[in-house]
Amino acid sequence: MSQKMSQKMFQNNFSRNMLTRRKFLYSLGALTAMGTVFLGKDELKRQQVLALDDPNAEYIKYPGDTSLKQRARNKNLIFGAAIRYDQLSKDKEYAQSVSKECGILVPEWGLKWSVYPYILRPTPETFDFTAADWMLYFARMYHMKFRGHTLVWHLSLPDWFENTVNSQNARTFLEQHIKTVVRRYKGRVHSWDVVNEAIEITDGHPDGLRKTPWLEFLGEDYIELAFRLAHEADPKAILVYNDYGLEYDIAEDEAKRNAVLKLLKRLKSRGAPIHALGIQSHLDAGGTNFNPKKFRDFLAEVADMGLDIMITELDVADTDLPKDIEIRDRIVAKTYSDYLKVALEQPAVTTVITWGLSDKYTWLNEFYPRSDGALLRPLLLDRNGQRKFAWNAIARAFDAAPSR
Ligand code: XIL
Repeated sequence: MSQKMSQKMFQNNFSRNMLTRRKFLYSLGALTAMGTVFLGKDELKRQQVLALDDPNAEYIKYPGDTSLKQRARNKNLIFGAAIRYDQLSKDKEYAQSVSKECGILVPEWGLKWSVYPYILRPTPETFDFTAADWMLYFARMYHMKFRGHTLVWHLSLPDWFENTVNSQNARTFLEQHIKTVVRRYKGRVHSWDVVNEAIEITDGHPDGLRKTPWLEFLGEDYIELAFRLAHEADPKAILVYNDYGLEYDIAEDEAKRNAVLKLLKRLKSRGAPIHALGIQSHLDAGGTNFNPKKFRDFLAEVADMGLDIMITELDVADTDLPKDIEIRDRIVAKTYSDYLKVALEQPAVTTVITWGLSDKYTWLNEFYPRSDGALLRPLLLDRNGQRKFAWNAIARAFDAAPSR
């Protein structure tokens, strides 16, 4: 069967299911009118879907076959995904989808110091570039850009780090790491996440900085130092500060947005070579705290500093949604849609990267599982590589975006 045909069948099946589903939902609506007192938690959540069950919802309509990378390119945007080397190298169909949809490729863990099962820094003296080299090769083969993630991250330090690195030698280690890794890929990397997740308000530092070994050993200037070293090693790469928890209208995110703005201002005022903010964008379909105005204002403040903005790790967790697949897919798609609409209004947003591409491979099954044990559906393609409503939502967001 051609891909086009199976795509059509997929869409048709969905439309058919939708009709029966809608009938069911409407009868649920009648039930609700009798009083919510009879409804359990799941049924209450289904009511959210009544609100979403709009036959005109853009994301249920397939916008045609043009790939996401092409739709993005049409607006001078870049679209791509973070992918694991082990999965990409073993799964041909997946590799095909990745090459078809993505204009930029990010190793999900090949360039972190150490994330099981892959260790870039097996010993204090050595580097193992197998995964990252392979990913770069794949990217070049399919004319994709390549992105580095990440040079400094408190969560990816290897076992030997604790007993080896101290305040006397920390600078040397940071310097050696950044120089070696960045120089190796010099001229071939679109952008580097130089520092990842350096802010944690609850750690109590006056500027909201996270208490990491680097902060302890080198003081708060470790961030600026990392940017300077990266710039020296590859003057053409776009250098990014990347963080999560910046998206929602909740006190925690508000505090983090303020701390990020403060950090960015400080780096800029000191002339540090920082070029963009990376907003991870791990969204939660169960949450309702997205406030377009708050988010828009934040993006504008970042843009006003002369920085670009990249959406670097977009996915939508359906951990707390009802089990029904169609309900989940709709709410996930709507979440993508609402978020990207606001993000892409801002001309400083240059790039959209999802954290994975297919539900077959998502970190969320491990890190944010559902309590009923069902597998998550947070991404753009289903486990068979078929485009979901979420794919439609992103495609339509690119189509509607103002050109850069
Ligand atoms: C995650 C990966 O997806 C996992 O495979 C890995 O084991 C742990 O890290 N924020 C980040 C990413 O910046 O590096 C994280 O990736 C997800 C959260």
